[in-house]
Amino acid sequence: MTKPIVYITRMIPEQGLQMVLDACHVEVWPEETPLPREVLVDRVHGIDGLLSLLTDSVDAEVMDAAGSNLKVISNYAVGYDNIDVPSASERGILVCNTPDVLTETTADLTFALLMAAARRVVEGADFVRAGKWKTWGPKLLLGLDVHHATLGVIGLGRIGTAVARRANGFDMKVLYYDYHHRREKGESLGALMVDTLDELLSESDFITLHVPLKPETYHLINADTLSKMKRTAILINAARGPLVDTDALYDALRTGQIAYAALDVTDPEPLPPDHKLLTLPNCLVVPHIGSASIATRTSMAVMAAENLLAGLQGKVPKYLVNPGALLHPRWKSAT
Ligand code: DGY
Repeated sequence: MTKPIVYITRMIPEQGLQMVLDACHVEVWPEETPLPREVLVDRVHGIDGLLSLLTDSVDAEVMDAAGSNLKVISNYAVGYDNIDVPSASERGILVCNTPDVLTETTADLTFALLMAAARRVVEGADFVRAGKWKTWGPKLLLGLDVHHATLGVIGLGRIGTAVARRANGFDMKVLYYDYHHRREKGESLGALMVDTLDELLSESDFITLHVPLKPETYHLINADTLSKMKRTAILINAARGPLVDTDALYDALRTGQIAYAALDVTDPEPLPPDHKLLTLPNCLVVPHIGSASIATRTSMAVMAAENLLAGLQGKVPKYLVNPGALLHPRWKSAT
């Protein structure tokens, strides 16, 4: 039997990569930076499967360049806003993601950002390295308490829930605003659902974003929503950069409209080293490392490989995001 042809847009952890290498003819983009658009469009010609990253924009042009053999796009991420899912569904192309395995790891990083922001951990480390630590000081690097503060979670999905659980351990009061109105889920966590976003914004000491990037959530945090936050508020974003209007955030941080932002994701991404956000002392940015633990990135690779191979074998992948694609005639006999 001829092996399916697969393109992988970056080196993924060995365990998942090997699974695909064993079963397919594979070409992998070998560089550490994303492959240029024109290379992607060129390399996908004739492939049966694509294993993509969140840094690849996989749109109708890429799908058409691949041709009619393309059956499955397996994204090495839980988020799939980089893929034009409706166009994939129309073409009967399955789109898959890697949920669950990264939930706890991403929640850990979210909480690390929250703690680091509140207690000025990075500033403190820089202070010591700069040789400024002369003595214990009654007013040295005073921050905000995390315990008993109010955490506002926007989006009570998997990661939002895992963050809320962590907050319980710190005796925080947890408020949440949820587009799906999951009241029972919040109740079981001891979290309080608010009816309006404004309520969450005005009452929270820390605000953390856990919604997918969609047209409705683009610039969810903007000049207006920032103006409703407390002046002492700390904003944490470990979801997607464009949920926040970067210019508005810059202004809010610069003028003291809010106290601090801790970001794992930015818009643009990567953030250029001379970007204005990086001139602010009250903005902490890390390079999209929410899921970056050895174990989790390995699990994601295995899951992405399993999704890809299932689709290539005519089976329904476990983590399929567009079941509508199965209505396409090519999937009539899928199991
Ligand atoms: C995702 O999976 O969507 C994260 O942003 C990276 O792990």
